Amino acid sequence: MATALAPRIDRSRALYERALRSLAGGVGSMARGTFAGYAPHPLYMDRGEGARIYDVDGNEYVDYLLALGPLILGHRPPAVTKAVVETIERSGSMLGTNHPLEPDLAERVVRAVPGADLVRFSNSGTEAVMMALRIARAFTGRRRIVRFEGHFHGWADAIQWSVRPPVAAAGLEHAPRPLPAAPGIPEELAETIVVLPWNRPDLLERTIRDRRSEIAAVITEPLMANNGCVEPQPGFLRAVREVTAAHDVLLIFDEVITGFRLALGGAQERYGVRADLATFAKALGAGYPISAVAGRRDVMELVARNEVPYLGTYNTSSLVVAAAIATLDELARPGTYERLHALGERLANGLRDEFRGAGIPALVQGPGPVFQLWFTETPATTYREAIAKAKPAFYAAFQQAMLRRGVLFHPSQQEHLFLSTAHTDGDVDRTLEAARGAVAEIRDRFA
Ligand SMILES: Cc1ncc(COP(=O)(O)O)c(C=O)c1O
Repeated sequence: MATALAPRIDRSRALYERALRSLAGGVGSMARGTFAGYAPHPLYMDRGEGARIYDVDGNEYVDYLLALGPLILGHRPPAVTKAVVETIERSGSMLGTNHPLEPDLAERVVRAVPGADLVRFSNSGTEAVMMALRIARAFTGRRRIVRFEGHFHGWADAIQWSVRPPVAAAGLEHAPRPLPAAPGIPEELAETIVVLPWNRPDLLERTIRDRRSEIAAVITEPLMANNGCVEPQPGFLRAVREVTAAHDVLLIFDEVITGFRLALGGAQERYGVRADLATFAKALGAGYPISAVAGRRDVMELVARNEVPYLGTYNTSSLVVAAAIATLDELARPGTYERLHALGERLANGLRDEFRGAGIPALVQGPGPVFQLWFTETPATTYREAIAKAKPAFYAAFQQAMLRRGVLFHPSQQEHLFLSTAHTDGDVDRTLEAARGAVAEIRDRFA
């Protein structure tokens, strides 16, 4: 094991150089590459256990990346591993037919999630969002979807718009111009969406009032996790609910990050607002690829009657269903979320205090199980405020200084940090100790 302040990462570098020769960009997803901020190159991880992850050079890190969210129970949670191994050994990874575990899982989701009368499963968050949008358009007979600037809903052509647009090209703050997130997304799809700033109920109300005959649904992350964990302003989600209901526009909560994480019933439980449809992934499978659309009976009946076909060869494979059942049973244990929130609060307060103690304004946005650090006095409420308040170079320096001290944070301030049920007070102590050294190091550098 290399020393904490100069860990050797030679094997990671050699693997990256080798991967670049045959794997496009050297990575399995852009979120893992230098494009996402990993510098000087991404690390190669060997294994994880609980809240710790180990790279191929033998360095150990307290893990707040948690695979970008799925690992809510930490790495290799024994109950999930056991369920998966037993299922594979008994019936294989998939049968491609109905199997007895499916209703077991559906019942658990319907029981846990407010407003979920019926559910269907798929494999990724992107697929679940694609289906929710299609169902909403079919149900209302309308075409347009209202989405908020700065939110991420997966990488389908229809919705990967205005996620992190360059502000100079994105039009007026109160009436953003839809911008596709990548070349190759047909420009014509701009006609099918309306982009608005988040946390502005007045603008949403006016848009829906003026264009109600065109708008099928409003989709929102209940917590803008994908741009630094910006929280809904008090009353905002309720206002969204009221105005959509008043005009027969469906409300879709994209709970891919918040679902089964903020509470067993996700954001709908935590914020006390019920959506018509909600999408789930990540924490639902604790590391196995499963996603879901769950919602109001009359809306989901379109799927039940196959008027909107919900397809997928790999949907509800025995493997992922067994994993999700075991995950939900673990999460449903009394005290799980109380503990997760309490630990998150301790960590957030501790991190904030390390910066403030060094004379650097800081706050933590987001609830305990998912949060982000900001170096400002007041929180951002919209994407553009978040861009204006972000300090990417300072954050990146902090992330690097933490990495050298054995703590793995996401390298981008626009992302977020996750906590798992496997994290302990000892992990938090170690993190805060690392933060003390990291703050001292970068304060001098940025002074
Ligand atoms: C809110 C939200 N929706 C959808 C997605 C897409 O999920 P997936 O990567 O499983 O396709 C993500 C992924 O991070 C997300 O954060």
